Amino acid sequence: MKVLMINGSPREGGNTAIALEEMRKVFEKNGIETDIFTLGTQQITGCRACWACKKIGKCVIDDAVNDVAAKLRESDGLVVGVPVYYASANGTLISLMDRLFCSRNADLRMKVGAAVVTARRGGASATFDEINKYFTISGMPVASSEYWNMVHGWEPGDAEGDPEGLRTVRVLAENMSFLMKSIALGKEKYGMPYREPRVMTNFVR
Ligand SMILES: Cc1cc2nc3c(=O)[nH]c(=O)nc-3n(C[C@H](O)[C@H](O)[C@H](O)COP(=O)(O)O)c2cc1C
Repeated sequence: MKVLMINGSPREGGNTAIALEEMRKVFEKNGIETDIFTLGTQQITGCRACWACKKIGKCVIDDAVNDVAAKLRESDGLVVGVPVYYASANGTLISLMDRLFCSRNADLRMKVGAAVVTARRGGASATFDEINKYFTISGMPVASSEYWNMVHGWEPGDAEGDPEGLRTVRVLAENMSFLMKSIALGKEKYGMPYREPRVMTNFVR
């Protein structure tokens, strides 16, 4: 059993990294393998809306997005760690998420998702909602904690001084571990849920 953790921050040892590391320890204690993908300062361009991915099964822009897609295919859960920029997720992470979820050639249903947000002060819950929307359009159950998943800090390292935030992400990792294991058992016993054929009714008249 494996969980992929994306760190969307350009600061490799920043506050998002601290939150993900706190979760990693809990996953490993629970026997769940972790793979932390750090976006750092890589250039990730936005989606070109070419829809070539629907023919070739991957994004035509051959950068980290296709590597992350391959890792996600092999994972039972996905944690997305994201710094808040102007009350929203940082732009590079959103470019990655748009292209990853649009181009992926994998059934994401029943892979458990969780968003972890890092902010100095404002915009954390809006960003949390923003990331959860990728999961909830993909048939991915969302793991929860006992507060909305956020840690606070400005300078790298500040999140170490946010014990409530760190507890929130540890509880999240415990709950997510349980959910991933329960889903694995459920799949064995009941199989995957029936999937209706897709219907698309655009709001165009
Ligand atoms: C361009 C920019 C915009 C930011 N906007 C916000 C914001 O709207 N709200 C906030 O609380 N913090 C904001 N911050 C602060 C970061 O969210 C904060 O420093 C956080 O700890 C960064 O996470 P990291 O250390 O993982 O990179 C902003 C930082 C940058 C660089």
